[in-house]
Amino acid sequence: MRGLLTLRDLSTEKILELIKYAEKLKRGFRIQYPDKKIATLFFENSTRTQYSFQCALMNLGIKVVDFDTQLSSIAKGESLYDTVRTFEALGVDGVVIRHSKDEYFKELETIKIPIFNGGDGKANHPTQSLLDLMTIHEEFQKFEGLKCCIVGDISHSRVAHTNIEIMERLGMEVYISGPEEFNDHSAPYLPLDEAIEKMDIIMLLRVQFERHQEKMKISVEEYHKRYGMTVERMEKMKENAIIMHPAPINRGVEIASEVAECPKSRIYKQMTNGVYIRMAVISDSLDGNL
Ligand code: CP
Repeated sequence: MRGLLTLRDLSTEKILELIKYAEKLKRGFRIQYPDKKIATLFFENSTRTQYSFQCALMNLGIKVVDFDTQLSSIAKGESLYDTVRTFEALGVDGVVIRHSKDEYFKELETIKIPIFNGGDGKANHPTQSLLDLMTIHEEFQKFEGLKCCIVGDISHSRVAHTNIEIMERLGMEVYISGPEEFNDHSAPYLPLDEAIEKMDIIMLLRVQFERHQEKMKISVEEYHKRYGMTVERMEKMKENAIIMHPAPINRGVEIASEVAECPKSRIYKQMTNGVYIRMAVISDSLDGNL
């Protein structure tokens, strides 16, 4: 299949090449595809991924075909496959898809146009990981040997699952922390206050209440006290350490409101880098390389 579905499909060299290409685009390199059109099909809510893909497409001179699930024939029972097959028949040059089903793209193996995965269930969020890596690379100019702890709702997080695999592949030391009920053992566990003092990167996650089968065992107030990035915890981090979060953020739950925009926070830089990473991925695909 063409496009970008998972980072496991890409070699480490290709991932580094995409990050370098995104950095070049951020420095002002201009490339245009005025004859192309790409559809954005979001079957789950999204602000950053949906609109940064749309900004990336506009920056590349590509026409955006917007899709509203409420006004589409999905409401009449049309399947994901038939929806994507329709866009292919309409002549679009690619589709961006976010869907709640893990690995939804396995149903789309016969589709010939590129598919750019904007997140599938709890499994993959490849462009989020690439923008996270770009932000880390901008900060430290390397990956090898960096220590990162991902904190929070690990078991429901496609961001955590995608990042753990690629960060380990790039030679980073990756740990997880947070409530035991969200520990899926996808990386070694560290108590939060130990992680705060030792890590180069603390990556916070939102508690994904919408994916929970059962109510969280502790209140959000208790969560903030035990696992949140408070001002006191932020002040104990290493001098050059940074705070990341894929967002949306819940101020006062996983992060104190004043920490979200403190000098250690790279949350808004991650969002800016998302536009350049998505430009790099789409451009590389339209050039026939993905
Ligand atoms: N980080 C992220 O995927 O945000 P959205 O759900 O708003 O796209």
